[in-house]
Amino acid sequence: MEHSGRFIVSSGKKLRLGVLVSGRGSNLQAIIDASEAGAISAVVAIVISDVAHARALRLARNHGIEAVSIDPCLHATREDFDATVIDLLRKHEVELVCLAGFMRLLSPHFIGEYRNRIMNIHPALLPAFPGLHAQRQAIRYGAKVSGCTIHFVDEGVDTGPIIMQAVVPVLDDDTEASLSARILTYEHQIYPRAIQLFAEGRLEIRGRRVFCHETDTPQQYAKRAWGAVNP
Ligand code: GRF
Repeated sequence: MEHSGRFIVSSGKKLRLGVLVSGRGSNLQAIIDASEAGAISAVVAIVISDVAHARALRLARNHGIEAVSIDPCLHATREDFDATVIDLLRKHEVELVCLAGFMRLLSPHFIGEYRNRIMNIHPALLPAFPGLHAQRQAIRYGAKVSGCTIHFVDEGVDTGPIIMQAVVPVLDDDTEASLSARILTYEHQIYPRAIQLFAEGRLEIRGRRVFCHETDTPQQYAKRAWGAVNP
């Protein structure tokens, strides 16, 4: 899959995020905290879950954020489910979709609609240990380091261009739980940072590689970018 492009931001405007979750929501919490503290120029416009009782939904509502659950059983196909999600994202004018512990695969249609505008966090150093139970995979394999990866989402499972990674050691006495906890603290740091780079329009995808541009003025930016900067 070939990727290319750079998201063009309007200066002064906060990036609107749609966060998709299935469970605990600690990454969602980190994103909300960063947003509320002004550490990222982004707001969580909507949280969507495929699990009605997900803790992440309650957490969002506690912060006054609209949080909606969509029951997969009420949708005949994955495409139908995704169409309902896309409708909601559009209604809330979402510009970047953040997967934060969302346990469903997205349809190619969804990925096409939000091409290069979907991020995911994975608890391993991709391309090592994709898929489920990444921390368990790392321990069983005997890896000496693991970590977490923020990547753009493409049609594969954890295969999209890598934006940012953090490395943590795997210790001899690690359990899946202890390694997961060590990795999680870094997840909470790099997800907001990746969102901020996107919000600043500094990420550019060329093929499989994601480049991070230095900060520049809108005028310099307009010269270098492939699109126009909005007024
Ligand atoms: C995290 O470990 C993330 O890397 C993975 O799912 C987990 C979600 O945790 N994709 P939380 O719901 O954000 O606490």
